[in-house]
Amino acid sequence: MKDFNGKVAFITGGASGAGFGQAKVFSEAGCKVVIADIRQDHLDEAMAYFREKKAEVHAIHLDITDRKAYADAADEVEKVYGSPPQLLFNTAGVNTFGPAEASTFEDFDWVLGVDLGGVINGMVIFVPRMIQAGKGGHIVTVSSWGGFLASSGCTPYSVAKAAVNMLMECYYSALKPYGIGVTCLCPANIKSNIAEAVYTRPEHLKNTGYNVNEKTVDFLRSIHAQGMEPVELARILKKGIENEQLFVLPFPDPEKMMREHCEQLINYVTPEGMKRQEEIMKKRMEVMMKSPQISIYLANDSGWGKARPDLTWVKERKGF
Ligand code: NAI
Repeated sequence: MKDFNGKVAFITGGASGAGFGQAKVFSEAGCKVVIADIRQDHLDEAMAYFREKKAEVHAIHLDITDRKAYADAADEVEKVYGSPPQLLFNTAGVNTFGPAEASTFEDFDWVLGVDLGGVINGMVIFVPRMIQAGKGGHIVTVSSWGGFLASSGCTPYSVAKAAVNMLMECYYSALKPYGIGVTCLCPANIKSNIAEAVYTRPEHLKNTGYNVNEKTVDFLRSIHAQGMEPVELARILKKGIENEQLFVLPFPDPEKMMREHCEQLINYVTPEGMKRQEEIMKKRMEVMMKSPQISIYLANDSGWGKARPDLTWVKERKGF
């Protein structure tokens, strides 16, 4: 897709961080935008911005894990803008950190429910409507570079993001004949409010195996404050959509990163490869430990990334 003028764009998580950046960039490109978000305060702040800009933006309070509410939101889009969206952004997401072995069912259910289940809901609800409208379009899912790297410190998140990468690759070929493009955006650190994701965690899924408190939330805030500007990220994404790219990795040398990742997977399939990979990881760790970023993590005494204190059988992690 190259011409965004007059297109209807539906953005989950559109009231904050990466989604708010997308709403700004695609609204400036001429789209009629819907921002859908679980946080009413985020929606109110975003709408204040768009009202001042006199932009055509409509807000919907939505929990993307609620299928009935999501289908109602899709009906609302058609009522407000006269058609289903031509652009769907599955951007809403949550995160929480702690050792894989401390994870509870609820840690998995919450993160997978939003980051994978919410995206599936978006696809099942919107794809048939987009096809039947016959106008083509483009679907974006915000995944993460973490969907390629197996992280033992945020396992439910890595699992969900790896799954959405596969989901979007499947839909990519399925939707091509309908003139609907698919893009999976895989960033690293974004300047956003994702440190506050735990505030939206539903009551019945509150049981966590991780150490999560105001100090760990504050520490995460300081990390994300150094992330990429959402508007800059959305501009890179826009180019990726124009180029009909399946994956957009907003890094200086995405091919090198992906080659190293593929090399790692190849190494995993033989005993010699496993040894090679161990050496690679050792060297990579030595370089990483010298980076100024890592000293911030190591100096962190908030308890971030640790297990819930009563889970005394979880081994303390050494280093990063
Ligand atoms: P953010 O927290 O600033 O924005 C996400 C928005 O999604 C929030 O407004 C939140 O209220 C909303 N949301 C959360 N659960 C929801 C639900 N069940 N239904 C509807 N809305 C919901 O965070 P950010 O960073 O902008 O996150 C956007 C996407 O970017 C996520 O998918 C995240 O996993 C991904 N990402 C973030 C990175 C980062 O460093 N912040 C890095 C890589 C990917």
